[in-house]
Amino acid sequence: MRHSDIFPLRIKTPFDIITANNYYRKFNLKPIFIMAKTYKIAAIGGDGTGPEVLAEGIKVLKAAAPKFDIKFDFIDFDYGGERYMRTGEVLPPNAAEELKQFDAIYLGAIGHPDVKPGILEKGILLKLRFDLDQYINLRPVKLYPGVETPLKDKGPEEIDYVVIRENTGDLYTGTGGVTMKGTPNEVAVQSAVYNRFQVDRCLKYAFEYTKKRNKKNTLALCGKTNVLTFLYDLWERAFNEMGEKDFPNIRRDYYHVDATCMWMVKNPEWFDVIVTGNMFGDIITDLGAITQGGMGIAAGGNINPEGVSMFEPIGGSAPKYTGKNVINPMAAIAAGQMMMETLGEDAMAKKIEDAITTVVSTKMKSMSAGKMGYSTTEVGDLVAELVAN
Ligand code: IPM
Ligand code: MN
Repeated sequence: MRHSDIFPLRIKTPFDIITANNYYRKFNLKPIFIMAKTYKIAAIGGDGTGPEVLAEGIKVLKAAAPKFDIKFDFIDFDYGGERYMRTGEVLPPNAAEELKQFDAIYLGAIGHPDVKPGILEKGILLKLRFDLDQYINLRPVKLYPGVETPLKDKGPEEIDYVVIRENTGDLYTGTGGVTMKGTPNEVAVQSAVYNRFQVDRCLKYAFEYTKKRNKKNTLALCGKTNVLTFLYDLWERAFNEMGEKDFPNIRRDYYHVDATCMWMVKNPEWFDVIVTGNMFGDIITDLGAITQGGMGIAAGGNINPEGVSMFEPIGGSAPKYTGKNVINPMAAIAAGQMMMETLGEDAMAKKIEDAITTVVSTKMKSMSAGKMGYSTTEVGDLVAELVAN
């Protein structure tokens, strides 16, 4: 029996496709109509090498898409230093509202050498993280085979964990101020602020992530309970209460942040998932990044599990390499992989990760800009070719 014997080919809406496929299944015929899912992605190239690396990430996503019946609709936004210098505006007032209409945001880098540090970082990157309530910053620390690490005698077996950095509180809220500015008595205060709600929602994500990862089923809280006796006491109580009550099968560890840095170098294999506040998370993930081969390969996701998330290479805008076609786009490509995973496209994410693994371990000479043995666009081509087949 042929498909057309069973169902008249009048496919006009997605419902017709479902109905047709149900008919075909009934008669043991393979469903033949599959609707491609379209993802609307906001692409913010940003500053410096941001646009170059993002272009390679987009190239890879577009190359992989057909195999997985996915379509992409990338819309460019010109947020960044150039726009700021031209218009005097960091972000249009309705930026967050507009971005909420997208399935995800794909970001290159923010930071311009001609703009005073802080303006763009706070005005664009942090503002979006806050306005879109992206309360998780997910930063995997994973050493791929063949990639050089500065850690002696450690390899991919040992360096494979995930840092979950809280992304909306702590020293990042701007709570504080300055008095008597410019006098010998000038006072500057910047407070680390957390409420229980913020801590709980971050911990819940971290426990669930650890459970889903199912590797060592161990969640480590990184804090500083010996000095920040208010802040990390709150974290530690919440951590233990939630763990005991809702996640009895997840082992709980605790490390002070200074010790965490030491063990990340000495015994990274101890870690499975680390959860921590915004400031410590910022600091330890740069350390983590260098152990996995540097900024050229480290990706991060600013995640709102109930809303719109934003994915970025964590390396910054690298002004001195801008426009030279030498920067490593792998972190941006890995951020794209993380975006697909977060959107629930696990098969496509896996395909991209496999391609990244192959290219970094069998092709690229180094993860550093200008030393890869390939140009930025060539690295993108290598990955794109693998995901397309
Ligand atoms: C990061 C960066 C940002 C941060 C800066 C650029 C504001 O260092 O994403 O880790 O501190 O969060
Ligand atoms: Mn940082």
